[in-house]
Order: sequence, then structure tokens, then C-alpha cells
Amino acid sequence: VVVQRGDYKVPSYQISEIALDLRLDPENTEVSACLHFQCTATAPVTELHLDGESLELLSLQRDGRTLAEHEYRLTDAGLVLLNPPESFVLESRVRIHPAANSTLSGLYHAGGQFLTQCEAEGFRRITYTLDRPDCLARFTVTLHAPQKNCPVLLANGNCMATGDEEDGWHWARWEDPYPKPAYLFAMVAGDLAVVRDQYRTASGRDVVLEIYVAERDTGACVQAMDSLKRAMHWDEEVYGREYDLDRYMIVATDSFNMGAMENKGLNIFNAKYVLASPETATDNDYQGIESVIAHEYFHNWTGNRVTLRDWFQLSLKEGLTVFRDQEFSADQNSRGVQRIDDVRRLRAAQFPEDAGPLAHPVRPDAYSEINNFYTATVYEKGAELVRMIHTLLGKAQFRQGMDLYFQRHDGQAVTIEDFVAAMEDANQRDLSGFRRWYGQAGTPILRATGSYDPARHSYTLTLRQETPATPGQPVKEPVPIPVRMALLNTQGQRVPLNGTDRESILLLEQTEQSWTFDNLPDPVIPSLLRGFSAPVRLESPLDDDARSFLASHDDDPFNRWESIQDLAVKALLATVADASLASLPSALRHAVAATLGDAQIDPAFRAELLSLPSEDYIGEQMPVIAVEAVHHARDSLMRTIGMQFVPEWMGLYHDLAATYQRDGLSIGRRRLRNLALSYLIAGDHEGHEGMALYARQQYAQADNMTDRLAAFQLLVQHRHHDAEDILLDFYRRWHEYPLLIDKWFAIQAATPRPETLRQVEHLLVHPAFDWRVPNRVRAVLGGFAANPTVFHAADGSGYAFYAEQLRRLDDLNPQTAARLATPLSRWQRYDAPRQQAMGEALKMLAGKPKLSRDLAEVIQRSHPNK
Ligand code: ARG
Ligand code: ZN
Repeated sequence: VVVQRGDYKVPSYQISEIALDLRLDPENTEVSACLHFQCTATAPVTELHLDGESLELLSLQRDGRTLAEHEYRLTDAGLVLLNPPESFVLESRVRIHPAANSTLSGLYHAGGQFLTQCEAEGFRRITYTLDRPDCLARFTVTLHAPQKNCPVLLANGNCMATGDEEDGWHWARWEDPYPKPAYLFAMVAGDLAVVRDQYRTASGRDVVLEIYVAERDTGACVQAMDSLKRAMHWDEEVYGREYDLDRYMIVATDSFNMGAMENKGLNIFNAKYVLASPETATDNDYQGIESVIAHEYFHNWTGNRVTLRDWFQLSLKEGLTVFRDQEFSADQNSRGVQRIDDVRRLRAAQFPEDAGPLAHPVRPDAYSEINNFYTATVYEKGAELVRMIHTLLGKAQFRQGMDLYFQRHDGQAVTIEDFVAAMEDANQRDLSGFRRWYGQAGTPILRATGSYDPARHSYTLTLRQETPATPGQPVKEPVPIPVRMALLNTQGQRVPLNGTDRESILLLEQTEQSWTFDNLPDPVIPSLLRGFSAPVRLESPLDDDARSFLASHDDDPFNRWESIQDLAVKALLATVADASLASLPSALRHAVAATLGDAQIDPAFRAELLSLPSEDYIGEQMPVIAVEAVHHARDSLMRTIGMQFVPEWMGLYHDLAATYQRDGLSIGRRRLRNLALSYLIAGDHEGHEGMALYARQQYAQADNMTDRLAAFQLLVQHRHHDAEDILLDFYRRWHEYPLLIDKWFAIQAATPRPETLRQVEHLLVHPAFDWRVPNRVRAVLGGFAANPTVFHAADGSGYAFYAEQLRRLDDLNPQTAARLATPLSRWQRYDAPRQQAMGEALKMLAGKPKLSRDLAEVIQRSHPNK
């Protein structure tokens, strides 16, 4: 069944109260539910459909009386109440099987704990209900479990009472005072230790902060707790939003389908985004924790207090909350580096999605399985749309729009349209054209041309836009594109633009528009799309010299980085086309030399400037991705830059050595130093292993995981003669740390070497591999799909192997299988033999018995003919 956005109907009943009572047993859990229904329709309702999935109905009563057979009907999707009264209390008892629930949706038992994941439609796997985000109910939850296995019993809101019962069981009752949709319900039961802290809100309320983890991990919650407090403070400062319960709980688990979940007052997190210590987590891991903790916290207002009318509005909470967490991170760290990382992520995941068969608008029009729409488009492109509104209105006006949005819609389930309307109404602005961004898929191409007129002392800039067709949307309209820009003189200074401003935002609303800037006595170089002010592909008018100039002079960090990236891409594409051209073009060499020579540049930013574009990004720039040629071209450019600047890299490597510290400057210095090491190793002469010695030493002696893992990865990927020993050593040291063993699996699976496929086969039968733990599966299969040469092997062996594994995974965890299947959707980007092989892999999957709805939809949309 396909759900259409246009088919939305207000529910005919609301549920004011839900009381749940769960007797928790891994094999057989009994759920008693008591729901208060009230009719909201004007016409009488003959059938009321309740959602329910994988439930075994034990008893069903309405207003205290067991329902007769003619009063209800069980279906595949749930339960239908026939001719229900206007208001009634429904009591149901069902049996479910948490330990057998390998989907990790609904209530499941994993790693000795009971956990829930109800977004998007997991609550219907716990009880019969109206499982839709526009039904908000007050929840009371009573949990019963054996005291021994489950000393900790948690649910949303406030703990009202606890007690003991017979046979060593105990119970706890929780009440959430805020009405909420079922997708925000959560409960946890298990043997967990807790780390406590507190936070006083701006208005002086004390909030208890709790992070629940395994006993041995209590020392690894510092970054999570600290990030939480900083996020709480930031939301007060920047948006005037305070936390609204007495207690904020976070639970970490190794068994989770996604990153984390914003359940009201009881967030459940993938342990990856909670646990960190210098010995076990890298600087990137720390960064990930900061942003995901903040993201889930920010959902309390953008998502929970104001929630969604229906799932087509998903980006209303996700795009907005990603924008908020990006801005938080930009304020905590370096804004320029943060923006570069955000754009890199957008381009790596969202641009390819937008250019392929799975392209969909930020506000989709149809879905068959909503879990397939937790995408880079809904999240990252959605955040870019919010950012453009922020850019168009300005900071203070954006805040006014947010204030009005909260004021109007607190406690409601609303739409993207409501959000845009609040932004308009708070500022008397018209965003009608802007709404097209939400409905139109595809990445606009922005073509810029410019010319300086020496006679009239003016510069004319012409911008043109065009959006390629996407599935189901053959014709595209122009969208309003804010282009932040400046003009630089030959000294690299910004010149005034028809007035006093030295930076301006041009709004391209038509297909083509031109702007002329006067009073320019000398030629200028345009700096366009500063800060990446719109999610478009810019085709820039600059030649190599101008790019090289911007690479060392542009004061916009994003554009400075972009200029050097563009030079690198151009050099790489030339080598891809003709390997004999492998060299370092002078414009790029100058830019690299200038960056290496400028010790004033912040080290984290310097590392960004000196990092080559990924193979994926290079491939994206080609009509047909030349898998091997791209791989070799990038390797060879790494080697050339490594060899040509040995003293500089060596100098950085030695000068930046330092004992471990966690401040921003130290993080940047580590990043730059490890980049230097990777160039030194790449630049080593064939057969000569001088630099590997450095890596080996660094691996053995590092006082932190960032440095240790960087060295480990280089040694494994370059397959130095003792790589085997190092793999064993790493495993032996860290086998008790699942997050590190995930890295151990992933790095091996991603190693671009001929023997990797065989090794990955071994990894899948390694004792530490577990099909039921998504982090582990993603490490191996996700790592493999990111392996440029082995996954995309010309003979199709990588695809066939991969599809076999997805086939197996689909029986256990359809959500994760469907997500991992998306790389196969890119088949059109490859040469004919690969297209053929990817098509066969998809076809094989399409024929699988008991194919899940999740995977079926991805296959169907990827390749409608298979
Ligand atoms: N709302 C969560 C977040 O982004 C994501 C949960 C998605 N879960 C799922 N099963 N689709 O913060
Ligand atoms: Zn989110």
C-alpha cells in the first residue's frame, strides 16, 4: 500500500489517555492497555481502525464488557471496531515477544535490556492504538519485571510510585504530563548504572540529568553530559527555550537501528553517540556525540512540544533540528570548519540521492514504508532549506519567526506550511516562491558568468538556474536561490558593492538574472555562494589562476576551501581521462604550497584545505563513474603531493606532536598531523617502508584513540607486511569495546585491495560478528559498500556477494537491510557491465521469499523494471 500526502484526513477519534501495564519477560511479555476514546467527527463512525502489528490478542473489553465477535474484526494491519460509541474506554491485553523481535522496532530485548523504538510506527507493535502523530495522549506506564535482571525501570515523564511484588518482581509507575503522539513513547528496563548531574534552567528550575549505561562505562559519559548541559544552555540563549520536565534521561544501547531517539524525557541512544574516553574514542567520535546529544535535546521543542501532523511533514522536525544542531556545533567549535563538514556530508549523501532513482522532495508525496524516508534529503537538505530562510530573513527575524511558531503551535501537530507561515507572518514577508523548495526534488545547477567592463568600470554577473528532471517530476520550476557574494580586488580585499556593503545576498528567482556593480576601477574576482548559501551545484566562471588566488585569499572559509577542492577535482579528472597526465598542475601546487607555508591558519581549517576530495565526490563529477581510474588518480595525487612536500609534511608531523588534550586547538593539530602522516606514507617510494615505521610507532605509543586509529588505518590499508599482527593486536586490546571492534571490522571491509572480498567473507563468520546488532552489520556491510574498488569490482562479484547478505539481513532487520540496499540504487552511474551486475543483484533481491515492505520499496524505486 502506498500512502499519499494528499489523502490526509483528520482522525475521527482522539485518545485522551493511555494507561499501559507491561509484565516484562523476554519471551512473553503481556501488555495491558486502557485507552480513552472520544469521537471528533461530526458524522457517525461505522468503523474505527486501530493499528496493531505482531500482536497476539488475549482479551478485549469496551467500557468494562468483553466485546462480542460482531463488534470488532482483526485484520493484517490491526483491529477494526464496528459501530463504536461516541466515547468509550477500550481495554486490551496482548502478548508480544521482545527477545524474538530482531527488527528493533517496538519493544525488544537485546543485550539483557528491554528497550523500545516507536518512531515511526513501532508503537503498534506494543498495543492496539491510533498510531499516528496527530493523536496526542497523556501516558501512564506501569512496568513490572524481576528485580534481579531489571533493577532499573524507566518510562517517559515522572516516576510516581514503585513497589515490590511476589517472586522477586518489582514495579514502577511513570506519568508524562505532556500529551504526546505514540511515536514518542519509550520504556527501558535492565541492569544499568547511572551517571547523574543537574542543570538549573534560566528561570531557576532544577533538572536532574541522568545517563544510563553499563556499569563499566560510567566513566565514559563526560562528553555526553557536558554536551547536554551546553545544549540546554544554548537553546535558552539562542531560542529562549527551556526544558520542561524535572528529569532528562538518556539510555545507551549497542542495539539500535539509527543514531538516537528523542522520546519525551527518555532519549534512547546508540552507544556510539554516548560513550567516549580518550583511550577508546576519536576526536570525530567526540564531535558526533556533541551533535547528536544536542540534536535529540533540541527535538524537545522542535518535534515534541510542536510535533507533526503526518509523516510527510518529517522534515518539519528533522530539517529544523539538524539546522539547530549544526548552528550549535558552529557556535561551540569553528564555524568555518563546521560548515565545510556539513556541506561535505550533504554532497556525499544527499546530492547523489537527489540525482538518482530514490530522489524525493524534502516533503515527499508518497511512501510505502515511512522508515525509508529518514533520508539525507529530509534531514540534510531540509536543514539547508531552513538555513536559506535564516539567510533570507536575517538572524533576528528568523528568531521572531521561531517565537511565533512556538507561540502558535505549542502542543499541536502541524505542517511544514505552518512553519513557513509563521516565518512569513512574524516578519510580513512573502515566502510563497520559497515553498517550491519543499515540493521539488533534484539539485539545481547554478551557472554563473561574469565580465568586467574596463570602459565603464563595472562588473556584470549573470546567474542561471536549471534543475534536472527527477522520477515523477519531469518539469522543474525555478526556485529562489540566495547567492551570498563578494567581489575581491587583486589584493584580495572585498570591494563595496554599489554602496557601502562589501558582501551581498543576490536572490535569483527567475531562470536567469543579471546584476551590474559599478565604480570598480580595477578588475575583480567574484567570490560566489559564500558559506554555501544554497544547496546547489555551482558551475563557476573562474579559471585556475582565479581559483588559486581565492584558495589563498578568500576570507570566506568555505569558498577558500572550495577553491582548492575545485583545483584538485580538475587535476584529478584530467588524470582520470588520461593517466599519463598524472602530475601536479601549478595552480594546485601553489595553493598547496601556500597553505603548507602559512602557519597562521587554524590547524583544523588547514587540514580541511589540504585534504583531497573523496573518490565518491570525484566520481560524482563524471557522467560515468570510472571506478578504477578515480581510485588510481587520487592515490597518485596523494603520492605526488606527499613526495613534493616531504620536508613540510615531516615538519608538521614533528612539530605537532603533543601530549593529549581535548581543546579545539589540540584537536585541529591532531587532525593536521595525521593528515601529514597519510601524505608521508602515500609519498613513500615503492618498497621503502620508512614512513610506515612512524605509523607503527604511533600505533604502539599513542596516548589516545585518534592517533592510534589513524595509524592503524594507514597500516591496514597500505597492507604493510605486519598488518596481520597489527589487526590481531588491535583485536586483543579492544575486544571488550564493541564500538572499537566495529571500527576494526569496518576498516578491513573498506580496504581497497583484491583480497578484501575473501576477508569480508571471513569477517561474517568471525565470532564477534552478530547479524542482530546493526552497528556490527553496518560496520561490515556498510564498510564494504564504501569500498570503492571491491564493492564495485568489474566482474560484479562485490554486488552479488552484497545482495546475498542483504537477503539474509532482511529476514531479521528490514529497516537496516533497506537502508544498506541504497548503494545499489546508483546503478545508472556506472558502466554497462556494472549496471548489468547491479541490476541482477536487485533482481535477485526482488525475488526473495518474504521480502519486507522496506526492502521491496527501495528495490522497486531503484529499478522499476526488476
Ligand atoms: N527521530 C530520530 C532522530 O533523528 C530518528 C529516529 C528514526 N527511527 C526510525 N526508525 N526511522 O533524531
Ligand atoms: Zn532528529
